[in-house]
Amino acid sequence: MKKIIMLCALIIGFATPAFAQVKIGMVIDDLRLERWQKDRDMFVDRAEELGAKVYVQSANGNEQTQISQVENMISRGVDVLVIIPTNGEVLSNVIKEAKRDGINVLAYDRLINNAEIDFYLSFDNEKVGELQAKALVEAQPTGNYFLMGGSPTDNNAKLFRQGQMNVLQPKIDSGDIKVVGDQWVDYWLAENALKIMENALTANQNEIDVVVASNDATAGGAIQALDAQGLAGKVAISGQDADLAAIRRIVDGTQTMTIYKPISTLATRAAEIAVELGEDQAPTSNFSINNGIKDVPSFLLEPIPVNRTNVKTTVIADKFHKESDVYTQ
Ligand code: GAL
Repeated sequence: MKKIIMLCALIIGFATPAFAQVKIGMVIDDLRLERWQKDRDMFVDRAEELGAKVYVQSANGNEQTQISQVENMISRGVDVLVIIPTNGEVLSNVIKEAKRDGINVLAYDRLINNAEIDFYLSFDNEKVGELQAKALVEAQPTGNYFLMGGSPTDNNAKLFRQGQMNVLQPKIDSGDIKVVGDQWVDYWLAENALKIMENALTANQNEIDVVVASNDATAGGAIQALDAQGLAGKVAISGQDADLAAIRRIVDGTQTMTIYKPISTLATRAAEIAVELGEDQAPTSNFSINNGIKDVPSFLLEPIPVNRTNVKTTVIADKFHKESDVYTQ
């Protein structure tokens, strides 16, 4: 009898971790962009390594779809929601529902405003903007600058612009830089950036010296428009994400720089934080940000600027891209 009781205790003891498996709902803005596919893969790998179960959905840039996906995750009974918001302003109600069910929420890479989120993990996004503008000013200190912001519903896009203006404003005030246009690219899509750039070139009779593009997808669209006018490589242009296509353009000389954000660090840290939140632990933070209703414990990582001179020592050394993929014939 005693033996049987001991055996039962042993089985229950071993079985407990299986019952305690953390269930994570990962709701991604838009898997059409290269960068988010990397985030998903690395996040899921690390979370599964930690014994968690991850459900993933992509809203393909549609904020209503994203709200339904969050609702769907709530009814699946997840313990934690990891959200890359399409629109950081419209999730307050659905997050209220999640919190009512005891679900903790991690804002991944982008802040969610006016919502009861538990943690925010990202890069120093204002610094991203500063690094972009610094590199452009170094490449082309004077002349006509065109500002191409990211998606107007993405809080990061505003932070990038803030950082860019920290550097550009004094030069605008001194008259060194003239801003000849300022547009925001819906959904961060290359095709939208292409149209905006075509119109800007027409409106300015091609007299544009610099394009302050906030990421690589939009830079790619803008460069296509520049290329059609024989201007690719003559106009300085920034980017962000170290997408393979962008790194190739940097090597070819048609894009000035990008920002490399080691996604493996972000995604693995996020998976660890998600599991901690699923177990109701408080993750380590190095920053706090007010999202309109609370000071959200946060962790910000450092972005790294990449240009032609340091492609090898950054993205290739880190195995973010293979050397053979970057330097193709
Ligand atoms: C931002 C993100 C960038 C870029 C962009 C487009 O929020 O910080 O790295 O990928 O979204 O998805």
